Parts: sequence; structure tokens; C-alpha cells
Amino acid sequence: MPPLSKQFYITTAIDYVNGQPHLGHAYEKVIADVISRARHCLGEEAFFLTGLDEHGQKVQQAAEAAGKDAQTYTDELAGDWQSFVKKLGISNNDFVRTTDARHQEVVCEILQQLYDADEFYQDEYVGFYSAKQESFLTDKDRDADGNFAPLYGEVQELREKNYYFKLGRHQQWLIDHIEANPEFVAPDYRRNEVLGFLKNNTLEDLCISRPKERLTWGIPLPFDSDYVTYVWFDALTNYLSIPRARGEEADLWPADIHVIGKDILKFHAVYWPIMLKAAGLALPKQVLVHGWWQKDNQKMSKSIGNVVDPVAVIDDWGLDAFRYYVVRELAIGPDGNWTDESFANRYHAELANGLGNLVNRSLSMLTRYREGIVPPQHDELAAEAIAARDKLLGELKSNELQAGLMTIWSFIARMNQYVDETAPFKLAKDPEQTERLGEVLYNLAEGCRLLAIWLQPYLPTTSHRIMEQLNHSTDLANLAEEGWGGLSAGHNINMPEALFPRRDK
Ligand code: MSP
Repeated sequence: MPPLSKQFYITTAIDYVNGQPHLGHAYEKVIADVISRARHCLGEEAFFLTGLDEHGQKVQQAAEAAGKDAQTYTDELAGDWQSFVKKLGISNNDFVRTTDARHQEVVCEILQQLYDADEFYQDEYVGFYSAKQESFLTDKDRDADGNFAPLYGEVQELREKNYYFKLGRHQQWLIDHIEANPEFVAPDYRRNEVLGFLKNNTLEDLCISRPKERLTWGIPLPFDSDYVTYVWFDALTNYLSIPRARGEEADLWPADIHVIGKDILKFHAVYWPIMLKAAGLALPKQVLVHGWWQKDNQKMSKSIGNVVDPVAVIDDWGLDAFRYYVVRELAIGPDGNWTDESFANRYHAELANGLGNLVNRSLSMLTRYREGIVPPQHDELAAEAIAARDKLLGELKSNELQAGLMTIWSFIARMNQYVDETAPFKLAKDPEQTERLGEVLYNLAEGCRLLAIWLQPYLPTTSHRIMEQLNHSTDLANLAEEGWGGLSAGHNINMPEALFPRRDK
């Protein structure tokens, strides 16, 4: 029997629950969602996991500041974050909270396994500690003036005994693995960053415990109850704990893509593969690293008051407008800059005038000139449509989501140009052009149907609405299999409605 094929498995980073979600969190979820939905549209099964990182000092401190115990605090916020995921139209199959018993059990299993395999040792540490970054610092972390950078927050001197994970023995195979599997970290420049780091530094052993006197909010070490687990060891394990807890490890592991931001690359491309390999588990196929959003060329921060709130944007402009902007504005890799002006510009030029106007005028003319009844098939735009579809397929398969939108929009531009060239409103006035008018109307309606199919992963609501206006099935359609000619002569469409009303009148 051939081996059972594994499901495509994609994850996002899990967010700290120490505040409210913002644009950065939304962006990561949207791109992972587009990739996951694209797989479904290509006929694959896909499993998509997102969730929350609830332990550690950061969260404990936020709970204290709110005057709540950590469990109550995270329980309350978890509800807000889950609603946020719904608001973004995310198609996740599970939602992990690192306080879930099912997750904690697997973390303990892995810890015990590595302890038994002699990967850990206990030692005393004397030095500096950044609570903000939850990490130990060395003199290498000081700047030229001898100070620790502001990103470390308040740095304290510590003397404490902890458990360490021996990383040194894992350095060479990891370098070899990344060199032999160039797709392991994408984009390229992020892979080079990891390789540069691994080749020019000796990996220091990783402290995987925190004494309970200092931190109580964590998973107790299964082999020493005086300690809790280092939050990153706990958090990274989520990618595996959920498949294992669901009894679906064989079907899901290894993960195909971990989508993360550039700031947490080392954890995912160095510590995580080492943890897995030490536990005898397969490594994920890819760590896909996106850039960071700024607002008006400034870092978003609560103190500046320039944090983009995706919920407010969605309430104002609609979900698909938000999803469109973040995917179209930024390829996966470089940093991006949000401005309200560029958002409004893209909305009007590309959604209202580009897509919205095309669908509206195509279907309105079919309603006006043919009472909404599809004329006989005609293939004038077929070859161009299929070429666009095939280009889009390649882009979706290689996670070039921004390029995929550009491909769809070139076809939209082509169709808008076709309306101008063929001038159906003029043809309608000339009784001798009745047949020609029918041909043009067919090309427009069928073009709209294909656009709706191509938009499924990106703008699911809009795709659905176009299909409804076409009075066509709204079931998920296979993007690779749907060709030209799906609308049949005689089919009756519904009344068109504006998809993206203009806001600047
Ligand atoms: N809890 C850790 C991740 C553990 S994964 C096993 C964490 N959480 S976070 O809430 O700080 O960040 C979650 C994700 O959001 C990260 O991938 C991070 O890069 C991303 N972003 C946070 N701010 C961002 C922007 N301004 N722009 C884009 N993404 C950003 O790190």
C-alpha cells in the first residue's frame, strides 16, 4: 500500500496575551489563512493552527498590573483574542492556549524525554537577566557604551541554579540541514541570516527553567517541581502538542509551514529544530518569515498612540478591504508601512473602481440588455483568463501572495479595458449588433465567475458575494480545475449589488 499522504499543516506564532491584538498579529494570521485556504482551493486537505502563548514573566507581570491572578487574566483576554480571529475571517482548525491541559501534557512528555536522554544538565548562573525579553544576557549584548539596549528593558543581576539544554552538539547538523534544504527558511535573506549566525557563533546552552521563587506562572518541570519551564520551550512545543493531543500527529507532523515575524527567527530556525531533533522528531519543512508593519514610518506603540486597530478598520471598511490591503501592500518578507491614505487609495482604485466596478457593470449590463439570462458561450477572453489562472496557481503554490493578487488584478484591468474596447452600451443601441453584444456579455459574466473563484483564498466574502450575484454555487471550487465556460447559456443571474461602495463622494 502506498504511504498515506500527510495533510498540509500550517501554523502562526502564538501571541502573548498581555494586551489587545494589533495589525502585526492580524497580518500574520491573514497571510497564513490565505495560504491555508489556497491549499483547500487546490484540492488539498490543510490543517491550520493558531493560538495564544499564555505563560511566562511578561504575562504574569501584565496580570499583576491588572490586579488579577494570571489564570483569570488570561481566561478573560483569551475570549477577546478568539473573537479577533473570527473577526479576521480566519479558517483555523484549532486554537491552542498554552494553559490547555492537552498542551501542557505534551510539553512535560518532551521535557522528560530530553531529560532522560541526557540533553539537560543543572548549573549555576551568575549574570544579567532581562525580564522583558525573558532571556539571560552576556557582555556581548552590551552596546559600545557598555549599556544594554532599551529592548531589554530593566536588566537585573542574578545568581541562580537552572537547567540547561546542551546545544553545542547540535550546531553542525543544523548548519548542514539548512544548507541541504534551502527552502527550510524563506525568504533567502532570512536563511542567510540564520546561517551567518550559526557559522560565526558558538551556540550557548539554552536555559530551559525558571526557579519558582522568581516565576510561578509556567508549566512545572516534570523532573524538578522547584522550577517552571522556560516560556519559549513551552510555546514552541504548541506546534506539536496539538497534533499529538488530537491523535493526529502521524497525519500532520512535520509541519509544512510555520509563519512567523522576523523578530522570532532564532527561536524557530535554531532552538525549535534542535528540540525536535533531540526528541527524535522530524523537522518542519519551512519557516516562512514576514516583515514588520510600521504606521506612518514609525514603530507602532501604545505610548505614541499610533497602533493600527484592525477591528476598527474592519468595522469601518469591511473585512475583505482589510485583508486585501495587507496582502497587496506587502510581500512576505520586507517590512511594511501602513498609512490611512494608502489604504483609502487602494480601496478606491483597486477594490471600488477595479474589481467592484467591473463586476457591477458586467452584471448590470447582462440584467439590462438580456434580463439576466446568460447568452451562448463565447471564448474571446478564454486564453487570457487561463494564462492568468495558471500564473496565479504557480504563485499560490510558492506563497507569493502579493504577486497572486497582482495577477488577478491584471486580468481585472484587462476586462475593464475589454468593456471600453467593445463598448457594449453602444452595441445595445444597434439592432444589427445583437449577437456581438451577447458575445461580449458572455465573456464578461464568465470572467467574473473565474475572478470569484480566484479570490476564494484572499477575499472569501467577496468571492461568495460574486457567486451569489451570478446565482452560481458558492461551494468551494477547485482553482486548478475550473476552466473557461462554467456558465451555461440560459442560466439566470441575480440582481447585482455594489461590492465596494465608494467612500469619497
Ligand atoms: N509569543 C511569542 C511567539 C511564540 S511562537 C511559538 C511572540 N508573541 S507576540 O505576540 O509578541 O508576537 C506574535 C507574532 O506577531 C510574531 O510573529 C511577531 O513577529 C508578530 N508581530 C508583532 N508585531 C508585529 C508588527 N508590528 N508587524 C508584523 N508582525 C508583528 O513573539
